[in-house]
Amino acid sequence: MQLAGTFRCSPNIALIKYWGRRDDALNLPNNSSVSMTLDSGLSTRTSVLFSDSLGSDVVYVDGNRYTQESAQNEKLGNIFETIRYMRGLAAVRSGAIVVSENSFPSGAGLASSASGGAALVCAVDAALGLGLSKTELSLIARRISGSACRSLFGGIALWKRGSKADGSDSFAEQLFDEKYWSELVDVIAMSSEASKKVSSSEGHSRTVRTSGLYKLRPALAEASVGKVIGAIRNRDFNALAELIMRDSNNMHATMLDSWPPIIYMSDVSTAIISSVHAMNKDHGENIAAYTFDAGPNAHVITLSKHEAEVRDMLLGTKGVIRVVSSKAGTGPERLGESLISEEILRHEAGN
Ligand code: PMV
Repeated sequence: MQLAGTFRCSPNIALIKYWGRRDDALNLPNNSSVSMTLDSGLSTRTSVLFSDSLGSDVVYVDGNRYTQESAQNEKLGNIFETIRYMRGLAAVRSGAIVVSENSFPSGAGLASSASGGAALVCAVDAALGLGLSKTELSLIARRISGSACRSLFGGIALWKRGSKADGSDSFAEQLFDEKYWSELVDVIAMSSEASKKVSSSEGHSRTVRTSGLYKLRPALAEASVGKVIGAIRNRDFNALAELIMRDSNNMHATMLDSWPPIIYMSDVSTAIISSVHAMNKDHGENIAAYTFDAGPNAHVITLSKHEAEVRDMLLGTKGVIRVVSSKAGTGPERLGESLISEEILRHEAGN
């Protein structure tokens, strides 16, 4: 027996960030978050195959092979756990091969775990014919990596904090589809393709444990979520931009306030912050907003009419090695082809 499925999902960029958890094992956040799912130019494709000829599960990410035993980081461990959980829902016993490929460097603050986690749950759902709802898939993806629960939806998504201890009310939903404000663009400036030194899992818990400043963040971020939704609804870029920049700065302030401090931004990041403020001052209103995840790469959110100016500024910044633009994407997409070659299958079946 063989069951297979392939999906493509994209990362999302949080406009109001998720940072700090009330439950580390369940990835339950201290505050709600809002994000824009990117288009398929930046994406993860994931194929899953369940076969009776496989004794155990194996996962390939960008050509690197992992087994349950060699999965050293928390997120890889969560992937194996998710495969087991979803297999149980279908009462299937076969082992699985997962092959996942990113169109961008993983682990460099471009949310490969968000697109990867979403693509995995969609591909497993399709392979096993589970037919789970987007809400159910979002709940499962959240267990792999919190931010993954938002990549199940195109356009703008809201991940509600929820209040239940078992996390059953902490999942994402779509607020606006990708056409609602189609002028929105995320211009991403990569200055480093290296993996981050402090994983986001460690970062979440260290900040909650050690930052006094962090105590103020959940209420602040929760209030900003409502304001961001209003600014998007009114297509008020000037207001949206300030909320985005303030939230990124607030999150990075709590990271710096942790002990030992966590510093994801670089000199290139801070140079971009200054340039964005200078551009906004020149225009007499906010035409661009920077935001940084757990890495130095800048996401500069702007409108199509200002994209060329933003790109020129980023390309002229010393240390920027690549600039990529993305509009809001449509969300998960089922693909016909499989990334699992006959050669991989033969190799794994023989193990
Ligand atoms: O999903 P995680 O555990 O990798 O956390 C990511 C958190 C940020 O990217 C920094 C913010 C966010 O909301 O995406």
